Amino acid sequence: MAADPYLTGAYAPVYTERTELSLPTEGELPEELDGLFTYIGPNPVVPPTGYRARHYAWFRQDGFVSGVRLSGGRADWFRNRWIRDRRVCRAMGEPRPPGPRHFLSDVVHTNVICHGDLLLALVETGCLPARLTPTLDTVEYTPLYSGLSNGVSAHPKLDPNTGELIMIAHTPLHTWGEYLVIDPQARVQRSERIEFGGRPLVHDIALTEQHVIFFDSPVRFQPSIAIRGQLPYRWDRRHQARIGVFRRDDGPRSIQWFEITNCFVLHAVTAASSGDHILLRALRYERMFDHSDDPLAGGGGLLWEWDLDLVTGAVRERQLTDRMQELPRLDPRTVTADSRYYYAITGSSEAIAQRQPTGILKHDLLTDTTVVHDYDRTGGSPTEAVFVPRGAAEDDGWLLHLLYDTERDMSKLIVLDSRDVAAAPIATIDLPCRVPSGFHANWIDGASIEAVDAALTEPSL
Ligand SMILES: [Fe+2]
Repeated sequence: MAADPYLTGAYAPVYTERTELSLPTEGELPEELDGLFTYIGPNPVVPPTGYRARHYAWFRQDGFVSGVRLSGGRADWFRNRWIRDRRVCRAMGEPRPPGPRHFLSDVVHTNVICHGDLLLALVETGCLPARLTPTLDTVEYTPLYSGLSNGVSAHPKLDPNTGELIMIAHTPLHTWGEYLVIDPQARVQRSERIEFGGRPLVHDIALTEQHVIFFDSPVRFQPSIAIRGQLPYRWDRRHQARIGVFRRDDGPRSIQWFEITNCFVLHAVTAASSGDHILLRALRYERMFDHSDDPLAGGGGLLWEWDLDLVTGAVRERQLTDRMQELPRLDPRTVTADSRYYYAITGSSEAIAQRQPTGILKHDLLTDTTVVHDYDRTGGSPTEAVFVPRGAAEDDGWLLHLLYDTERDMSKLIVLDSRDVAAAPIATIDLPCRVPSGFHANWIDGASIEAVDAALTEPSL
């Protein structure tokens, strides 16, 4: 029997926590690049054997976060640490971190963000966030600074103008989701229910200055599959895909539904308001989790556009490109604006189905043109690229991403110039091990890291 694809190659687990202070660097790291690059995904603390290896459930494994601290033109350190969930603490002989979980599982493995002075690892479907130190140790599970009563989304959107963190949280325990607005001090400001009438997988949202937009697809929670240990979401033909739109000020009571051709969307790209219309772009799949729980089995998503008429309720939809792609990222300063550019991983359908994306793309939505940094010739496979602003213009910045060196079975951190994505990297940092492929990358700037550090060292009042 062939090994599970998530136990081999770029996804194969690693079983050692490391700290490395000496990181060989090629090229010139920009001095202004001051912050922490993070990457997180599932990685089992105990090697799976027997049944657990034969029926390996990648998405259920323990959260494992890796980080590279950059400052003053240097790579200061690399660290990787498991999030201290119940299983990890048992395996490592450590006490469990304090704080409420509010869910059956305390595995947290999908994203790392900083909000207020909290560095947080996130997971959707119910469990509260895990609070981390700037060196990625787990401090506690936290309901934030005030009353987070259910779980969070792993894809909150930060409004760069108001400093609000906005999300739709969902859990298989309820047929409703929760619209959450978190203020800049990490306190829950609004918490309002959205009636789904079922248990859909709502992974991401899009945001404008006035609206929240999300997909309600036929991918639904299936309890019988959950019991078998597989990803408990499957395509359910009884449901019709639709897009939900509501005003941020009115909340979900103003929700408007737009029925669309059946599909699934994991990640939104951007949304823009224009008069009574919202133009939504996202990466679309014809089907998802139909016969398998592997999201990559059918290749990547395709860029589509939905033009939503808020007055008539009409929707026009069309495909914009035929290039397979996933993990789209924006300049964080344009999250609520009409973004012109986005960045994503790409590759042929075969390459993505084999979990080996081969390039990083930059797409210009205005001119409908794409530039690709292609690693195909050198045998490397990139993971999600995060945009770090440099100058004032929307695309003036750096793109940071991990690259799996397939020949050496090691990872590198790559810095690309986002204005010249196809050019050779500005800098390449050799990491001391492979970072197992997972979910999401992020960048926490130096000032935020200092605030996180200060909050942890100040005596509590
Ligand atoms: Fe995601």
